Amino acid sequence: MWQGDCAQGQRHGAQGSQPRFLGGKVLRFAEVDSTNAVARRMAEAGAPEGTCVVAETQTGGRGRMGRTWHSPPGGLWFSVVLRPAVLPRDIGKLSLVTGVAVTEGIREATPLPAMMKWPNDVVVQGKKVCGILVEGRWRGETVDYIVDGIGINVAVDIANLPPEVQAVAGTLIPPRNPGAAALRERLLALVLGKLGLLYRRFLSGGFLDILEKARLYSDTLGREVEAACPWGLVRGTAVSIDADGALVIRTSSGDVRMVSGDVSVRCAGGSYSG
Ligand code: BTN
Repeated sequence: MWQGDCAQGQRHGAQGSQPRFLGGKVLRFAEVDSTNAVARRMAEAGAPEGTCVVAETQTGGRGRMGRTWHSPPGGLWFSVVLRPAVLPRDIGKLSLVTGVAVTEGIREATPLPAMMKWPNDVVVQGKKVCGILVEGRWRGETVDYIVDGIGINVAVDIANLPPEVQAVAGTLIPPRNPGAAALRERLLALVLGKLGLLYRRFLSGGFLDILEKARLYSDTLGREVEAACPWGLVRGTAVSIDADGALVIRTSSGDVRMVSGDVSVRCAGGSYSG
């Protein structure tokens, strides 16, 4: 990855102003079970939109599809509470919106060519450096709250993660880099700022603009992919991300549209999934 530049990190460090998100409070913890779980409990107790929970470590970090998200010190683990006036079927689009915010944040804070792996992983040179978990509660057609959780491996010791995670995960800078704390702060401020702007654009009907960015940053489009569907394994070329954010895979027997799930990009020597 990148060795980091602590002088640059310190210049951009957040010793001064605190990051803000939609005018809400940023609450910091040394250790929690999961920032998504904490934010969820707060949302259920009435926390306003914009509340942000950040932790240095998580003992029960959660990933998509019921997976564990390993959250040692060195990473940036945070969740925000949203209360969007959208239909429940549009909630999935928020993970794509978040992926764009993180990709742009990493590109601005570092020289790394961050890309999006559909639906919302952020990868650098094929290694997953960020995962996003969007959860929520709704009644009928009304969304009560959304918790948008973001985990970025800023300076994580990948060698200490389980072997199956080591195979797919990357870190932005090495774990003991002296600029790590400054980079985490810089990224938190950048991602919250960008997410706030993109979220407002999404709410005002601008999803297609955001989708354009997701296509531009996509590491999946044009690649040979493999995806597990309820009726079996689908193999083909990822040809587009449609207006709803679904991935279209062109197979020998026609186009398959995936609205959620995991895809593996097939490489010459095998495949990777994050
Ligand atoms: C995935 O790729 O499987 C999603 C991982 C999401 C991890 C983040 S870390 C902050 C927040 N709290 C959690 O427990 N999960 C999310």
